[in-house]
Amino acid sequence: MPARFHRDRPASRLCLRHAPRDPRSSMNSTTDMIAAPGPAAAPACRLRHARHEDAAELAAFAARTFEDTYGSDLPGRIGPEHIALHLATAFGPRQQAAELADPGVVTVLADCDGRLAAYAQVRRALVPPCVGGRAPIELHRLYVDRPWHGRGIGQRLMVEIDAIAAGRFGGAVLWLKVWERNARAIAFYAKCGFVDVGVADYFVGADRLTDRVLVRPLDPRSAIRPASG
Ligand SMILES: CC(C)(COP(=O)(O)OP(=O)(O)OC[C@H]1O[C@@H](n2cnc3c(N)ncnc32)[C@H](O)[C@@H]1OP(=O)(O)O)[C@@H](O)C(=O)NCCC(=O)NCCS
Repeated sequence: MPARFHRDRPASRLCLRHAPRDPRSSMNSTTDMIAAPGPAAAPACRLRHARHEDAAELAAFAARTFEDTYGSDLPGRIGPEHIALHLATAFGPRQQAAELADPGVVTVLADCDGRLAAYAQVRRALVPPCVGGRAPIELHRLYVDRPWHGRGIGQRLMVEIDAIAAGRFGGAVLWLKVWERNARAIAFYAKCGFVDVGVADYFVGADRLTDRVLVRPLDPRSAIRPASG
């Protein structure tokens, strides 16, 4: 394991087990080796804050990973035309550009082996009633491209998410919504220390799906000020 993988602040056990934080701040460093749990070689990943010029690539990536995650599992009543409309509305370049320009939203990209492999988005948002605690901040999106699953990128992003939520946004609680049938993600979040506190609606067009609402306290020691963004 490279010497720069020193632990400098606590987070959930799982979220640091594979990818402890670079004490010089990941947003200052350009490249982190993400530990691979399996035999595959560890990818060289660079985390950076997305900028306006990333909107088009991010829109395409976000739409593709959303469809890849849910496309075949959504109820049959939600047809391809509904999904296409949802993708265009929720993830289109215009929407991405608006989110990238919003000071209440931070989007982090993981470029791995020279390609966009994952992204996460943290934001100030309306909070569901089931989320208690002071200063709740939402983890709005976390998507790792399928070929990169299980190689520590989600955990590495989670450390950065904590830093943004606690540091830049001054949050004390991190919360998120996850589709009740997304068992993989629910297992990942549970290992990252989140607990289930209730339900919320998620709409694909007029179709209502049920999300679980998960929360985790933020350790104030997570609060570093990212160097960019
Ligand atoms: C959920 C997700 C973000 C996890 O990221 P990741 O980079 O694959 O996860 P990591 O390699 O950092 O962490 C792996 C840990 O989480 C769990 N995990 C991650 N992906 C898993 C999967 N596909 N199936 C089962 N467990 C999984 C593992 O148990 C593993 O724990 P371990 O190291 O103790 O074995 C990623 O799989 C993903 O993007 N999925 C599709 C999109 C999605 O569902 N996003 C969440 C929307 S709310």
